[in-house]
Amino acid sequence: MSALKKTENFGALMDFEEIPLTDKMFDNFSKRMYELAGVDLPPTPKNHALIRNRIVKLLRRHSLKTYEAYWSLLEKGEPRIVSEFISALTTNMTSFYRESNHFDFLKQALPELSRKFGPELRIWCAAASTGQEPYTIAMTVMEALPENQTSKVKMLATDIDLQVLKKASVGVYEEREMQGLPPAQRQKYFEKVKVKENEAWRARDGLNNMIRFAPFNLMNPQYSFQHKFHVIFCRNVLIYFDDPTTKRVIDNLASCLAPGGYLILGHSESGNVKHSGLKPLSRAIYQRS
Ligand SMILES: C[S@@+](CC[C@H](N)C(=O)[O-])C[C@H]1O[C@@H](n2cnc3c(N)ncnc32)[C@H](O)[C@@H]1O
Repeated sequence: MSALKKTENFGALMDFEEIPLTDKMFDNFSKRMYELAGVDLPPTPKNHALIRNRIVKLLRRHSLKTYEAYWSLLEKGEPRIVSEFISALTTNMTSFYRESNHFDFLKQALPELSRKFGPELRIWCAAASTGQEPYTIAMTVMEALPENQTSKVKMLATDIDLQVLKKASVGVYEEREMQGLPPAQRQKYFEKVKVKENEAWRARDGLNNMIRFAPFNLMNPQYSFQHKFHVIFCRNVLIYFDDPTTKRVIDNLASCLAPGGYLILGHSESGNVKHSGLKPLSRAIYQRS
C-alpha cells in the first residue's frame, strides 16, 4: 500500500515537472517580476529553469495544471497572489555577519556618528530578507555604544517579500540559519527555543525591540521618510537590477541619507555607483557629502 502511494506521488511529481514553460510564458513572468520588483531575469537557460522550478510550486499550491492557468490567476491582481509570486521569484540568501568588514566599519563609526548627530541614530536595512542582517546590525550597535544609548537607536528593516519579512520579525532561527554567528554572540543575544520538537534560537527582546520591520519596495518612484537616516545598508539586492534601475535606487537612497551618513552596498555592487554626493570610503562603503 505505502509503496503504491509512493509511486503515485512520484508520478504526480514527474507530471508537474514535465509541464512545459513556453518562451512566451517565461517572458510574461519575467516581465511581470521586472515591473513589480525591478528584478531583471533575462532569457537565459538558468533563468528559464529558475522561473519553471519556482512557479511549479505555486501551480501545486493552487492545484493548477498549466503555467497559463497560473498566469490568469496572477493577472487578476489579487494582492495575496501577487505577493506570493514576488516571494517565489526573489532570492533571499543571507547570513549573520555576511561581508563582515561592514560591521567592523559600523562598530568604529557609531561612536563618531553619535557624537555628531546625538544618540538618536537612525539606521535603515533596506533588503533585510529573513533578518540575519538587521540583527547583526543591532548586535553591532549593542557592542559599539554604551547601554544607555542603544535604546535610543532606531532601526528600520524592510523587504519587498512579505514572507521573509514575517520570519525576520519573529526572529527565530534553526541551527542551519545561525551560520556566521560566533558562539559568544549566540549566547548573549539569542535564547534557545523549541520549534516543532527541534532546537532553534530566538533573538532576545533587547535586540528585537531595536528594529521595526515593514514592507518596502525599492522600486517606489520616491522614498519619503520623515527623517533622514545616518546609515543605510542596501546589500546584495542591486545585483538583481539593471543599470537604469540601480541608478534610480542609488539616487533615492542617497536622498534619504543625512550629510555625513553612510551607504553600505554589497561587495559586488559598487561598480555602478556614480553619484556626485557619495564619496567612496572603502569596499562598497560610501559617505554622503
Ligand atoms: C540576496 S537577499 C540579500 C539579503 C541581505 N541584504 C544580505 O546581504 O544578506 C536580497 C533581498 O532583496 C529583496 N528584494 C528584491 N527586490 C526588492 C525590491 N524591489 N525592494 C525591496 N527588496 C527587494 C529580496 O526579497 C531579498 O530578501
